[in-house]
Amino acid sequence: MPELSNAISIQNVYKSYGGVEAVQRCSFNVTGGTITGVIGPNGAGKSTLFNILAGLIKADGGDILLGNKYVTGFAPYKMAEMGLMRTFQVAHEYPRMTVLENLKVAPRKQLGLSLFSNWVKWSKIQEEEKKWEEKAIEVLQTLELDGLKGELAGNLSGGQKKLLEFGRILMGEPKIVLLDEISAGISPLLMQKIIGLIQKLNKENDVTFCVIEHNMEIIKQLCNPIIVMVNGEVLVKGTFEEVIVNPDVIEAYLGIRAWE
Ligand SMILES: Nc1ncnc2c1ncn2[C@@H]1O[C@H](COP(=O)(O)OP(=O)(O)OP(=O)(O)O)[C@@H](O)[C@H]1O
Ligand SMILES: [Mg+2]
Repeated sequence: MPELSNAISIQNVYKSYGGVEAVQRCSFNVTGGTITGVIGPNGAGKSTLFNILAGLIKADGGDILLGNKYVTGFAPYKMAEMGLMRTFQVAHEYPRMTVLENLKVAPRKQLGLSLFSNWVKWSKIQEEEKKWEEKAIEVLQTLELDGLKGELAGNLSGGQKKLLEFGRILMGEPKIVLLDEISAGISPLLMQKIIGLIQKLNKENDVTFCVIEHNMEIIKQLCNPIIVMVNGEVLVKGTFEEVIVNPDVIEAYLGIRAWE
């Protein structure tokens, strides 16, 4: 299997909904191994861009590369095979499966389905199942959801569903992770723990993160560089200190020039 890349290149990507140009000729690179922040006012096109990257929405034009491989138009499962995992702004759990089952079906390297017809390997599969169940329980403990492992995922609160989505990331072996407003509905204390987990995966496994976030404290603590999107376009890319003093960024957020 070829080595998967953790670098993203977005080239001239655009997408309209009727008259709304959600993403306009976006081009930027995400360097492999970074925790890149993506900020911008409501409706800037951040989630649309993530959906295009994850293969959930087809762009009207432009290209996406992971490393030097074109992945434009790849289906979500194909992007997952390429090592790209994401969380949704509004969580996408399997509501009628338990919390534990939701994690056990997370994408992961496992024995191929074809082996299910091979009874000789049956005990090996059971062994694998047990391993994944243990891993899932460990992830639930980390996210303080272990008390809810038998609960139907549809009954969780918004914040708990977000945690479950992050749990799926911890179950997999991603190279690139897109997080869409992971902090919404999660307590500040638990969010600090999640920040620690993101930093650990980034450092130890060289996982690239792209983080959409409205909470500027989290962006400041976690992300470098930061990409600011406004009206479907990339306005500026820089460090936190650079972007927060940029007059165009201030205007985009506040609707006024900083010196007015
Ligand atoms: N499925 C859709 N149908 C029609 N318009 C859409 C659709 N999805 C997004 N849009 C529009 O595209 C623009 C960009 O939306 P998007 O959700 O990507 O913004 P965002 O930056 O993620 O905003 P927020 O910070 O509020 O989540 C908005 O004007 C939005 O109304
Ligand atoms: Mg959004």
